Amino acid sequence: MIKIAPSILSADRGRLAEEIKAMEDAGADWIHIDVIDGHFAPNLTFGPWVVEVARKATDLTLDCHLMVSDPLTYAPIFAQAGAHYVSVHLEAAVHAHKILSSIVQSGAKPGLALNPYTALAGLEDALEMLELIVLMGVNPGFSGQPFIESTVNKTKKLSEILSSLGLSIPIEIDGGVTDKTARALVAAGATVLVSGSHLYSSPNYAQAVKNLRQSV
Ligand code: DX5
Ligand code: ZN
Repeated sequence: MIKIAPSILSADRGRLAEEIKAMEDAGADWIHIDVIDGHFAPNLTFGPWVVEVARKATDLTLDCHLMVSDPLTYAPIFAQAGAHYVSVHLEAAVHAHKILSSIVQSGAKPGLALNPYTALAGLEDALEMLELIVLMGVNPGFSGQPFIESTVNKTKKLSEILSSLGLSIPIEIDGGVTDKTARALVAAGATVLVSGSHLYSSPNYAQAVKNLRQSV
């Protein structure tokens, strides 16, 4: 079954715990936490305390997406704070093996995220360690940007590579996911859908989650 992961970047941050719980009550599967350092990508967002707040607010899987230039330092910190998945960007992961190993040692599942025009080829050697692959459907930084259509073909390519190797690593799409773009992505092989502005701007979260699930 497809997993739906609301991104709290679009939540009302003055009521973060309630906004997280509300998505659990609405039927979401994971909570997506966007950590941006203002250096790897524009915008400055959450520290590890947000993971602690989320752990108290919900039993859902916490999916932490690190858009930071120094993942070697920060990935284990977010894993230790209680994230279930910690994904770092391939573009910033100079010592990828070391970073992914530190996530595992800190008790979380490691993922790699790729910007829209970053080639899939760079993932190849890391596949043996990965528990999540995040394909960005927008340039990292902000919610509410238009979806980059070439993400659909990239998803298909990745899904073919994984099947040819007999691997079933979840493919998560992050950015621009709505009930208009989700169907093609799932048909191409996506299994986790992150959605920020589309879900959190809805007056009825349960209906929005249900509509997104039914759209695929
Ligand atoms: C962008 C973040 C996304 C963002 C998605 O840098 O990684 O998770 O919140 O927002 P939407 O769904 O509005 O494109
Ligand atoms: Zn994200």
